[in-house]
Amino acid sequence: MATNTRKPVAMVTGGGSGIGRATAVRFAELGYSCVVADIDEQSAKETLGMLQTPGIAVQVDVTMATSVEAMVTAAVQRFGRIDCAFNSAGIMVSYAKIADQQEEEFDRVMGINAKGVWLCLKYEIAQMLQQEPVVSNPARWADKPDVCRFRGVRGSIVNASSIAGLGGYHYNSPYCASKWAVLGITQTAAVEYAKDGIRVNAVCPAATDTPMLNRFKEKCPPALRSAAGAKKYPFGRIAAPEEIAEAVCWLCSDACPFTTGEHLKIAGGM
Ligand SMILES: NC(=O)c1ccc[n+]([C@@H]2O[C@H](COP(=O)([O-])OP(=O)(O)OC[C@H]3O[C@@H](n4cnc5c(N)ncnc54)[C@H](O)[C@@H]3O)[C@@H](O)[C@H]2O)c1
Repeated sequence: MATNTRKPVAMVTGGGSGIGRATAVRFAELGYSCVVADIDEQSAKETLGMLQTPGIAVQVDVTMATSVEAMVTAAVQRFGRIDCAFNSAGIMVSYAKIADQQEEEFDRVMGINAKGVWLCLKYEIAQMLQQEPVVSNPARWADKPDVCRFRGVRGSIVNASSIAGLGGYHYNSPYCASKWAVLGITQTAAVEYAKDGIRVNAVCPAATDTPMLNRFKEKCPPALRSAAGAKKYPFGRIAAPEEIAEAVCWLCSDACPFTTGEHLKIAGGM
């Protein structure tokens, strides 16, 4: 098992905006080299411009296997391995009750939010399985060889679910279905690859101040607008994307080697 003296590498999908962008920025602040991937290449480049560490911007459509595979290949060609990945790319577009919902919308949302996460895991894990396990902080675990042996040292992945992956929400059945699916995929990947030294977790944020939430507030039915409002939260405010980023980076880090298959609800006490 090698020890880690180089900069770890983090890959973020949906890195051109919102929570993904904030997480790429935080990874860079923590010293990670970054792969910023987004379907909107320009926005990925803008995020890259905010980082103080080495990085690349990659155009990816997470619904296409060839595109996701190419993203992983680009990361490995540039940095040699992927230590952490945050699969944040996602959409929330349609607001209708099930009887009024369009079948195409269901397929589109599931395609990006659920299949997209599954495809990212497929290629990220395939790459991580080829990597040497790394101990990034050997002194910390020196008297606990079992922790070293079983901690997530080949790689650590976090998927973006949502508070909508933990309950039912009006007018949002495709989105809810996709975010519940993310948790099922996360837990399955966690049990399948724990012994390979790969940890897989998810975050479940509530309303977070990003372009997605602003679009939601503009387009959703009036009855739903309070769901995104600050008043319903005990803190009297919604989350900042940086607060989700902090949780993602903690889950990816070696601070929590026994944490896998978990979802962290970040909902300000809701
Ligand atoms: N903002 C919230 O309130 C909130 C709450 C809970 C969960 N989430 C989840 O967090 C994640 C990030 O949300 P956000 O608020 O930052 O949204 P956002 O719209 O600000 O950013 C999402 C990014 O994903 C990219 N993207 C969309 N489709 C893609 C595709 N096919 N391939 C690659 N990239 C694609 C977009 O270009 C965009 O840059 C999403 O999965 C979202 O469902 C958001």
